[in-house]
Amino acid sequence: MARVFSGIQPSGELHIGNYLGAVQNWVKLQMEHDCFICIVDYHAITQDYDAAALEARTLEMAVGLVAAGIDPERSVLFVQSHVPEHTELAWILTTVTPLGDLERMTQFKDKSQRQESILAGLLNYPVLQAADILLYRAGLVPVGEDQIQHLELVREIARKWNTRFAPGFFPEPQAQLTKARRIVGLDGLGKMSKSMGNTIGILEEPAAVFDRLKPAKTDPARVTKKDPGDPAKCNLYSLHQYFSPAATVEDVAQKCRTAGWGCLDCKRVLADSVVAHFAPAREKSRELRNAPERIRDILHAGAEKARAVATETMREVREKMGLLAAHMPSGVGR
Ligand code: TYM
Repeated sequence: MARVFSGIQPSGELHIGNYLGAVQNWVKLQMEHDCFICIVDYHAITQDYDAAALEARTLEMAVGLVAAGIDPERSVLFVQSHVPEHTELAWILTTVTPLGDLERMTQFKDKSQRQESILAGLLNYPVLQAADILLYRAGLVPVGEDQIQHLELVREIARKWNTRFAPGFFPEPQAQLTKARRIVGLDGLGKMSKSMGNTIGILEEPAAVFDRLKPAKTDPARVTKKDPGDPAKCNLYSLHQYFSPAATVEDVAQKCRTAGWGCLDCKRVLADSVVAHFAPAREKSRELRNAPERIRDILHAGAEKARAVATETMREVREKMGLLAAHMPSGVGR
């Protein structure tokens, strides 16, 4: 059975795009696979960020993941910077990664346009992602659509390293998508993303969910309540399909097509569905916040389990690359 690895940035808020596109798959896969779920703080620092807030956001992401159903008894949940082998392997992998491959990554092109001076960390971001996955020799990587190009590069990097040093050592990992591979933000403009401010957090308080939905974009043809709409052109209709019961979804489509109600009425029903869907997660998050040591303990135990695998991979990688064994009592080298 293939080992599973996936990662998420410590943005603080686990939003419904993350959940539908990736996290719900993690929750399912952990029932049958060996799963490593990593909060990737070293990736988060490749763009402007608030150092004073990072720790709280990292903990809050861990709360979100456990509340969403990641079971620390089944999955290894940990923070990337707690396992230094990630950056060590990333350095090694830069030596087999062509510069041109990194420069043509669409996420790099998009994000670098927003930077005054383009930093090397942003360019090397996908190499660190390759290290994340290959360190655990994972075969399956459940992600949203935006990560597909990075995954292709990870396979390429694995191939290059294998060819040069040890054929077959690193599996070429496969992406796994959900039906909701790309959730559009509430502004209707692009991918749902915390940095765009167009999200609904899964742990949002009930009243806040409706507040978020009120200004959300719907079918542009519905200028007034009397204009009929086309559900296929409404981003919120697709969210109904994920969160509302089948009978409600049908009713919503019918009322939209016949101008039987206004978009605000439709949003109210969607808010109720989202709130109901995540009620158990909100409850669980309250328990976790009341016992803050619990989350730190989970992350600590996760880092120990991850390190056990990571140090063994690095021992073999160093050996295959001809690096001199250090034999140090501290465990450095091999
Ligand atoms: P991140 O933190 O942006 O997102 C975490 C996961 O959520 C998915 N996702 C979405 N899916 C559908 N619709 C959306 N609007 C949406 N927004 C986010 C992402 O595709 C992702 O699966 N580079 C990665 C983190 C990472 C990683 C890894 C992932 C680092 N190392 C190794 C897999 C394997 C990222 O920034 O994800």
